[in-house]
Amino acid sequence: MPSRVFVTRAIPTVGLDIVSAAAEMEVWPGELPPPREALLAKVRGVDGLLSLLTDRVDDELLDAAGTQLRVVSNFAVGYDNIDVAACTRRGVTVGNTPGVLTETTADLAFALLMATARRLPEARDFVRDDRWQTWGPLLLLGKDIHGATLGLIGFGRIGREMARRGLGFGMRILYHDLVRADANIEAELNATWAPLETVLAESDYVSLHTVLRPETRHMIDAAAIARMKRGAILINTSRGPIVDQEALADALRSGQLFGAGLDVTDPEPLRADQPLVGLPNCLIVPHIASASERTRDRMAEKAARNLVAGLRGEPLPDPVTA
Ligand code: GLV
Repeated sequence: MPSRVFVTRAIPTVGLDIVSAAAEMEVWPGELPPPREALLAKVRGVDGLLSLLTDRVDDELLDAAGTQLRVVSNFAVGYDNIDVAACTRRGVTVGNTPGVLTETTADLAFALLMATARRLPEARDFVRDDRWQTWGPLLLLGKDIHGATLGLIGFGRIGREMARRGLGFGMRILYHDLVRADANIEAELNATWAPLETVLAESDYVSLHTVLRPETRHMIDAAAIARMKRGAILINTSRGPIVDQEALADALRSGQLFGAGLDVTDPEPLRADQPLVGLPNCLIVPHIASASERTRDRMAEKAARNLVAGLRGEPLPDPVTA
């Protein structure tokens, strides 16, 4: 009997082709994630699940799937949507898609940094709204990027690529991570480790590249924002709940922060009537950091290969452990 797998949304064809060559595959046809009840029904009896970050994989889902389930392959590098410990307890292997989206995500983080620093969304609206009368000495003044300090919270693959971009723009690089990088990496990226308080206090731009865990939830709260330089800019391409959005909105209104560029929010989607969305100095995009054509193909291929390896009982190319 061929293995059965459920794929929770259409992913690029390169991935679906690999999966369908190895298993009997059902793909959720909707543009939106399967509602919870539908997901629980669809996973019943499958051997493999190809999930997205919008699908919660927990005890309830694993119970619904049944004991034959062997592998959960997440189409994302982040896997906070998966209870990995629960999977491990049941002998279900878990995979993710690290490496292939690193540069693409850093590109978007830097794009947010530049757009918020130079107020591109406001400038675009200014022209579109036909408010452009003349060249103005005081018109839409922003912040310099060159010569400024970039503070990275989280210095893994994506944080380091962000450092590389900052370096190219003549920025000073500070970072905070629980683990200090090797001296040769620090030297290559001209990056200096500092305690979190120092990174917050000295950076003109603070960019978040840490994973969501209970300890990092609301890591950027009112107290952390108060420690930041007045007029600094916050960039978040990690996970929304790392930032206390009410505190962020207050800081953007009061001028404590000059701007924020967010690829991720809490919740997602963030409805247009939410206070942050209406603030002129807050640029929010809909969780698209890895969304380049090439990178999404590579993620699909990686997720498919993890899934197929798990179905065969082989080690996953990119395993995740609790
Ligand atoms: C996207 O957020 C990912 O984790 O890949």
